[in-house]
Amino acid sequence: MALPSFVKIVEVSPRDGLQNEKELISTDVKVELVNRLSDAGFLNVEATAFVSPKWTPQMADAADVMARIRRRPGTIYSVLTPNMKGFEAALAAGADEVVIFGAASEAFSQKNINCSIAESIDRFEPVAQAARQAGIRLRGALSCTLGCPYQGEVPISSVVDVAKRFAAMGCDEIDIADTIGVGTPQRTRQVMQAVAEIIDISKISGHFHDTYGQSLANILAAMEVGVSIFHTSVAGLGGCPYAKGASGNVATEDVLFMLRGMGIETGIDFDAVVDIGQWIAGHLKRPGGSRAGNAIAANKANR
Ligand code: HMG
Ligand code: MG
Repeated sequence: MALPSFVKIVEVSPRDGLQNEKELISTDVKVELVNRLSDAGFLNVEATAFVSPKWTPQMADAADVMARIRRRPGTIYSVLTPNMKGFEAALAAGADEVVIFGAASEAFSQKNINCSIAESIDRFEPVAQAARQAGIRLRGALSCTLGCPYQGEVPISSVVDVAKRFAAMGCDEIDIADTIGVGTPQRTRQVMQAVAEIIDISKISGHFHDTYGQSLANILAAMEVGVSIFHTSVAGLGGCPYAKGASGNVATEDVLFMLRGMGIETGIDFDAVVDIGQWIAGHLKRPGGSRAGNAIAANKANR
């Protein structure tokens, strides 16, 4: 299969990147992060999550973030919505896309959203229906498709089963997520191929956490199967509070560097992204988590 000539990057740093930060980050910084990402040309930014503030306190200011960001025409601003309460808040906030999030592993479903996979589907149905009625895009995120922090190995059939349910609900996109970053290219290829048998490949995205350093290889493997949407996070920020030990998402800068080197377009201003990564890492008082971003910033500083 020929590699895609264009890849859509879904920038998840304002949500996945920040949700696990222990210190509360000001709404001002979150808004500035989203605005800078918009200016850099991202077509899709996952801006925040309408989840229970008891479960994920960092996302408690979701409505404020959405009210204060500058919307770039053509950019999709997505938000997580685990239930109708989240959906109603997302609708009021003018989200372009709502994300239901389930898991291919029972144990993770319980830990992350406090219900079984079957119960989660029952909860998502009305959200999906309401999204369709409101004309809002619907995305389904599927965690633990390449391994689970609680149950270990996850059968491909479990991934396909839940992906089928998401497709039946009318998801515009389905994220195949490696929540704890244990996937390797061969398994990634097999999982993507299995999902592509039931869902059009143009609707499948890869969401890789880089815990074991496999993300770039997994992205390449997924592109070889025909996947052309990937989730990334500036400075490699990210992690799920309910997946202990998992590190951040694959760094946007690293992915852009790889894609640019392969002649694959994204429409994103790479230099601006490097600056954003350095800025947000500085704000969080830690070195940036992107190898490419740090190398370019160091080169600039030495000039
Ligand atoms: P629950 O405790 O079972 O829900 O949580 P509940 O219905 O019993 O409600 C409990 C309280 O939460 C009530 O408040 C509700 O009103 C409130 P109280 O009466 O006690 O004051 N509540 C809400 N508040 C605001 N917004 C809402 C909402 N829903 C209920 N939407 C629930 C169930 C799903 C809500 C909870 O487990 C939850 O919020 N989980 C989200 C956890 C989370 O944020 N995880 C990280 C995101 S997923 C992720 O990172 C994976 C991903 O990146 C892909 C990958 O890498 O794998 C997407
Ligand atoms: Mg994630």
